[in-house]
Amino acid sequence: MAQDKKGFSHDLIERNTLLLIVLVLITVSIGGLVQIVPLFTIESTIEKVEGVRPYSPLELAGQNIYFREGCYNCHSQQIRPFRDEVERYGHYSLAAESMYDHPFQWGSKRTGPDLARVGGKYSNDWQVAHLVNPRAVVPESIMPTYGWMKDRPLSYGDIADHLKTLKIVGVPYTDEQIANAKADLEAQKNPDGDTAGLTKRYPKAVVANFTGSKTVTEMDALVAYLQVLGTMVDFTKYQSKQLQQ
Ligand code: HEC
Repeated sequence: MAQDKKGFSHDLIERNTLLLIVLVLITVSIGGLVQIVPLFTIESTIEKVEGVRPYSPLELAGQNIYFREGCYNCHSQQIRPFRDEVERYGHYSLAAESMYDHPFQWGSKRTGPDLARVGGKYSNDWQVAHLVNPRAVVPESIMPTYGWMKDRPLSYGDIADHLKTLKIVGVPYTDEQIANAKADLEAQKNPDGDTAGLTKRYPKAVVANFTGSKTVTEMDALVAYLQVLGTMVDFTKYQSKQLQQ
């Protein structure tokens, strides 16, 4: 019988199942606590990345349309850190880039391409033409047409409430941003107007009359959203070790 110096018998644990279970549980709990407890002492597990900001009101309205239309059923928004993905879509997605998405749009279904960095890839006119009739610009496309959105007025009377709600779940909208939500939404569609406040509050927001219509339409919002995707972080400042070319 194996006995250590103090006379303690390991034999006892091996023969007594209940004791073995209790001791295993204690050991595993210690391991678990060592991993979990430190997480409570840090504010966020997501590293902050310069440039990432909450969506502008028009982009946010566009994101809501993206949710409503179920674009995520065919498009993911997460570039994985593999060479083939990085070569096709650009720098792999960082956790911080989707930290203000509620719900996040990572997805795994790719009937169409990943959209995490589609912002700036095409002109506003291309995006509108493509949504109106994908086949007009990509003949082999199987994407549905969304032409009706071009004339459908955007309902945005409650846009400030959307910002307030997101603030409750942790998106750092300021009081100033909430107070100006409606005005900022309209300003982003009007390149001839005063956009200084908007671009100060939301750097890199694409200001344009996307569809050319007089009133703000659902397609204006959707294209504003698509055009900001993946553009907030300036990757020329970051030289990642392995994957970037
Ligand atoms: C039934 C699947 C399907 C749905 C739903 C769908 N798409 Fe697509 N999408 C595609 C396919 C396939 C392509 C590739 C061919 C093309 O460019 O049209 C594509 C391409 C795109 C592109 C061009 C991407 C690139 O990098 O070239 C954008 C932008 C886009 N879709 C946006 C949307 C938006 C916004 C919605 C929701 C309103 C949507 N799609 C809904 C299948 C879909």
